Amino acid sequence: MGNITFQFEDKAQPPVTVGIEAGETILEVALDNDIQLNHNCGGVCGCSTCHVYIQQGENLLPEMSEREEDYVDRARNPKYNSRLACQCKLSQDGDLVVTIPDQSGIIGH
Ligand code: FES
Repeated sequence: MGNITFQFEDKAQPPVTVGIEAGETILEVALDNDIQLNHNCGGVCGCSTCHVYIQQGENLLPEMSEREEDYVDRARNPKYNSRLACQCKLSQDGDLVVTIPDQSGIIGH
């Protein structure tokens, strides 16, 4: 068991810290905790709407696949620490800090 702290680009939203267990994805944890994070393809690495920035805990996640890299490149404002939340399955217990981009400009659900 570890913790994940969600920070938001939208400064009106205060950070939220919730539990995460090995085997869960960042997207699953966000949705289970009513944190808005778009996921248009349903979590199968077929879009880029679940794009997030990993601020801490990258070492707890699997390597990025080429497919994920392709979709990250299509996300809005990708950075060196960009990942797709549905592909970030926690491989071992530990703590993460993740920034969620402003969802208001993303057409999705
Ligand atoms: S939900 Fe589509 S790539 Fe993650």
